[in-house]
Parts: sequence; structure tokens; C-alpha cells
Amino acid sequence: MSNTQNIQWFPGHMAKTKRLISEQLKIIDAVAEIVDARIPVSSRNPDLTGIISGKPQIILLNKCDMADSSATAKWIEYYKNKGIIAIPVDCKSGKGINGFKEAVKTTLADKLKVYREKGMVGKPLRVMAVGIPNVGKSSFINKIAGGSRAKVENRPGVTRGNQWFTVDKELELLDTPGVLWPKFDDVTVGEHLAFTGAVTDRIIDTELLAMRLIEILTVKYPEVLKERFKITEFCDLSYDTLCLIGKSRGMMIKGGEVDTERAANMLLEEFRNCKLGRITLERAEDYA
Ligand code: G4P
Repeated sequence: MSNTQNIQWFPGHMAKTKRLISEQLKIIDAVAEIVDARIPVSSRNPDLTGIISGKPQIILLNKCDMADSSATAKWIEYYKNKGIIAIPVDCKSGKGINGFKEAVKTTLADKLKVYREKGMVGKPLRVMAVGIPNVGKSSFINKIAGGSRAKVENRPGVTRGNQWFTVDKELELLDTPGVLWPKFDDVTVGEHLAFTGAVTDRIIDTELLAMRLIEILTVKYPEVLKERFKITEFCDLSYDTLCLIGKSRGMMIKGGEVDTERAANMLLEEFRNCKLGRITLERAEDYA
């Protein structure tokens, strides 16, 4: 049970962003979508596929330092089978970023061949970076382009704003014109975004959220909970397991009861700070 469906959304902003993205499509060669490797499905906007239809795509599985590496490898395979290159990156440290340019070149190999045949040397490839808030889009752009904004050109369509970044003479990056929101129609999506801290949990009941996380972890990563909180057996009710977790940290209130709100906050914080280890909540095999 959850009340994450109470999260409010902004459809007007989304419509504007979709329009702006569509307008820019004619001047870009490919789209690089940044997703959170721990929740590669919930951290995407499913409408995007329709918006960018026809454009080659590269997926950046960001925050891979926090995700389960075997699960990330399966997501790479999953996308490979769909003809899309996905690369694991950690945009905080910059690890894996170097693979991006190669991924763009491989994805656009046919286009590069045409450029060469036509003698169009020096024409940079143009890639649009998209991603829902908090996936690390700004971190990615900072790491790859070092904040170097491209010069404004005197060409219609390319002059728009100063959202162009020069990676090098072969590659330019366009930051998304607008904010791309995720989809909250599905309760699971809202919960997964709340677990990772992508949406605020101030409007969500933290105890319910922690109980949902416990339900998922007892199935997907039982040993993690057992070891970290010295639990030998899980309870049938996730609320009771939350009590065991709080108890293991001495989070008691008078009367010998467990302070479940404190325990819930602690569990969510430990998940977000990777103290529970590298965890992937959404696995490719469940979406095959
Ligand atoms: P956005 O533009 O998509 O909204 O995301 P942004 O780059 O602002 O990143 C959101 C948060 O995620 C930031 O943390 C950022 O440091 C962190 N982050 C981005 N990429 C990675 C990654 O690959 N690994 C890890 N571990 N963290 C990443 P913050 O707490 O909001 O800020 P701060 O910690 O940088 O001060």
C-alpha cells in the first residue's frame, strides 16, 4: 500500500518541453538519454521515444557507482538487443564518460561515412542530452564539456539560447530546451523515484515508503537487510521488519516502542547514500 500517487505533476511544462525538443530535432544527429542505472525504467519519460522517433539514441546508465554492476551489464545487453548502445557512467567522478564519444561515433557510423564520402570534413556531430530531473544531466554536461558553451552561430535554429556545448571539434552537445518530467501514472514509478530521492518524500508518508522499500529488498536483496540490521528472519509484515530495523539501531521511544518514523528515515537515507551497497531496483530481465 502506498500513497505516492498523491504526487502532483505539471502537464503544461511537459507539453512545452515536447514541443521544444521536436523543434530542435531537425538540427541534431542523435539523442543521448541519461537515466538512473538503479531505476532505468522509472527514470525515463516513456513519451520521449515517440517524440524523438527516427533519431539514433544512446543511453547513459548514470550513477552506475550506486547500481548493481551485474544488473547494469544486463541493461547494456538489453539495449544492445534493441540496437541501442548503452554505456555505464558515473558523472560524479567522470568514470565511463570517455566511452561516450565512441558510442556516438559508432551509433552514427553511417552518417560519418556519408560525410567522409562527400568530403564534409570538420562537420561536428550534434547530440541532444535529455533526462528527467535529478538523473545527473547537468553533471554529465559539466564532465563531458567542462562547461564550455559553444559559440553562438549565425544560423537559424542553431542560435537558440546558449544551450550548446562544445565537447571537441567533432562533437557538440545540446542541453534539453526545457524540463522533461517522468511519468507518474504508475504508482511504482513514483515510489522508485522517491526511493532514490529524485522526488521529495516530504509529501509522501515516509513509513509507508520505507515499508515498500523493505518489501522490495526482502525479495531482491535479502542479505543486504539481514547483514546490515542483524536480522535473522524477516517478518510477514514489512512494518514489523521496520521495527526490527529500528530496534537494531536502538531507535526506541518511551514505553519500549520503536520510533518507526526515525527508522524509516534512516533506512531511506542509507539507501540513498549507498550505505546499503550497490542496489538496482529495476532489472532488465523483468522487462524482456
Ligand atoms: P540533473 O541535472 O539531471 O537534475 O542532475 P544533477 O547533475 O544536478 O545531479 C543530481 C544529483 O546526483 C547531484 O547530487 C549529483 O552530484 C548526483 N550525481 C550525478 N551523477 C552522479 C553519479 O554518476 N553518481 C553519483 N553517486 N551521484 C551522481 P546532489 O546531492 O544533488 O548534489 P551534490 O552531491 O553534487 O552536491
